[in-house]
Amino acid sequence: MKTTIKDVAKEANVSVMTVSRVINKKEYIAPGTKEKVLKAIRKLHYRPNKVARSLVVRKTNFIGLIVPDIANPFFGNLAKGAEGLARKRGYSLILGDTEGKVENEKEYIEGMRGSMCEGIILVAPRIEDSLILELNDIIPLVLVDRSIASDKILQVWIDNAGGASQAVEHLIQLGHRRIGFLTGPQDVLNSFRRQEGYQRALEHHRIPFDPELIVIGDFYLETGYENFDTFFKVKPPPTAIFASNDLMALGLIQRAKEKGVDIPGDLSIVGFDDIFLASMVDPPLTTVRHPTVEMGIEAIGRFLDRLDDIENSPGKKPLDNRLIVRGSTKAIRE
Ligand code: RIB
Repeated sequence: MKTTIKDVAKEANVSVMTVSRVINKKEYIAPGTKEKVLKAIRKLHYRPNKVARSLVVRKTNFIGLIVPDIANPFFGNLAKGAEGLARKRGYSLILGDTEGKVENEKEYIEGMRGSMCEGIILVAPRIEDSLILELNDIIPLVLVDRSIASDKILQVWIDNAGGASQAVEHLIQLGHRRIGFLTGPQDVLNSFRRQEGYQRALEHHRIPFDPELIVIGDFYLETGYENFDTFFKVKPPPTAIFASNDLMALGLIQRAKEKGVDIPGDLSIVGFDDIFLASMVDPPLTTVRHPTVEMGIEAIGRFLDRLDDIENSPGKKPLDNRLIVRGSTKAIRE
């Protein structure tokens, strides 16, 4: 009986898709897996035919893009960057907004991999590392705004702790010692990295860490607005607040205005992301610039290189971020 691709997959203990990828030499395959498949092909004297070759390389020209919150300009910008390059290269994006829920991340992944997408750009901060690794064996993917310890996964991310440190360092240089921190969601690694950066800057200047100055947030605008008052229940209250993203910083500014608190005269505020609204708000927001459009471009570039078999290191270097000083921060009043 003629050996089929299924026999090879069984012998190598991998999926049919993985065998097909090895045959078609179209995508990155871990050297160990590739060797197993080649060994099985040799052992079974398998001769791939054209049908087998086309089994997985479905040219649909669609790439899936999964993001937590499309209403947040951070992710909108990222999508713009990705869309621009994808279109130039003849691809269209299919968007999934997960509303920050892990079950939606999984649902979109299933849908996209099972149907029309040739690959996935994954901005999914909540899904387990092990699932990302498994998925990477099945469909080409690029992980964005998150890094995991694996050199198989193409990743595009920034140094969150470093960015947060720059923000807090700036406030310390302006003489602030009571610095509030509005965190990101507690099920997202970037939130903890930013808190690490906050604490690192305090430690560096021997400023005691006061847990009362930490307020739990979730990256939504309303949370900044709603939590402003919480900071002022602390005694003594902060003279500056670092918000883990710009939307929450804008919420803080809005509430400060309602309460008659002058920004930056009475209170300095720093955000994180540099969304387009940051420079438009009054006062313009000091923030850590997150290269969002570039992240989208980079993600698509890496994805296409992988499809084209271009040597493409998984990317162990984060993209640059830097502090942009605007009008929402000021030296402390003596
Ligand atoms: O504004 C959304 C935030 O969530 C960004 O800072 C991005 O890094 C993401 O983790």
